[in-house]
Amino acid sequence: MLVDSFGRSITYLRISLTDRCNLRCLYCMPPQGIIWKPVEEILSYSEITKIVAASAQLGIRRVRLTGGEPLVRRDLPELVHSIASISGIEEVSLTTNGVLLERLAKPLAEAGLKRVNISLDTLDANKFKQITRGGDIEYVWRGIAAAEEANLFPIKINTVVVRGLNSDELLTLACLTLDHNWHIRFIELMPIGEQQDWGPGFPLPSHRYFSVKEIHQALASLVLKPTESPEGNGPSRTYQIPRARGTVGFISPLGEHFCASCNRLRLTADGKLRSCLFSEAEVDIKASIRRGESVEGQLLKALATKPKGHGIINPSDNLIYPADPTLARSMSQIGG
Ligand code: 5AD
Ligand code: SF4
Repeated sequence: MLVDSFGRSITYLRISLTDRCNLRCLYCMPPQGIIWKPVEEILSYSEITKIVAASAQLGIRRVRLTGGEPLVRRDLPELVHSIASISGIEEVSLTTNGVLLERLAKPLAEAGLKRVNISLDTLDANKFKQITRGGDIEYVWRGIAAAEEANLFPIKINTVVVRGLNSDELLTLACLTLDHNWHIRFIELMPIGEQQDWGPGFPLPSHRYFSVKEIHQALASLVLKPTESPEGNGPSRTYQIPRARGTVGFISPLGEHFCASCNRLRLTADGKLRSCLFSEAEVDIKASIRRGESVEGQLLKALATKPKGHGIINPSDNLIYPADPTLARSMSQIGG
């Protein structure tokens, strides 16, 4: 079984299916986009399935598909079906921007997908267009509706909070949970990849970080009560507005980081195992699989690189901000 050198059991594998995306979110990609990996460098579905089967033998129980945008990959329900059929895998979930979900929610659910996390940073169509550099929020609303219809519950909505971009919308976003059985999770902006100036009218890099503590302050009038996390039990701390249908969660990778209970490994679209979002240590599992070798050894090697924590200190304390703020890969290349 996969237990790392700090006693953490690794039961969760996040798989990035592609580095491509149909949006260009400010905090995730540079405006010109990134140079996409050629198709032959990306793991095939049969390679991914082999890696998941080996991982399941070693104790992986839950799999999350991410990107880039996973829904841009062709015939995704086929992959979901293969992964969901592997003995030991108890849950397959997906993180998506929702744009292509309207058409895919039902076939994915039929293939064995259990639930989805949908990214949505604003309720304002114009702002959505700005943040995503051109996206249309209407597709996301239709995607969420389709996910509900396909019973992909619990539906979680991921909102990355950026000062001066959407930090004025937190109350309205949280109040969506009054009428909808959605779980909105506010996520602190992480210093990964893109640290550039976003242009006139946008907050400067040094101002963007908005801590979970500040988010709590912005929501103080709602009198949030701590509650059980919805199924999935990730790193979020969960609260509820009295009598609301959904919940409000807080994810603080920097301020109150959750490294001590981290249970995950990551697989990048180009076949590298990564034991931590913030660590550059990667194990080339694709090379092994293409040489026809067994991959268990690579999984154990990746496990051995798992650091105790990321060592990034809350920037609002003005202490250490990441040792290398321009980490080699953007979020879309690692899989958020
Ligand atoms: N900080 C925090 N969250 C991010 N995401 C992408 N880039 C960042 C970042 N720098 C989020 C997306 C999506 C998930 C996959 O990761 O908004 O919800
Ligand atoms: Fe695409 Fe998600 Fe990155 Fe936005 S945050 S550009 S939707 S991968």
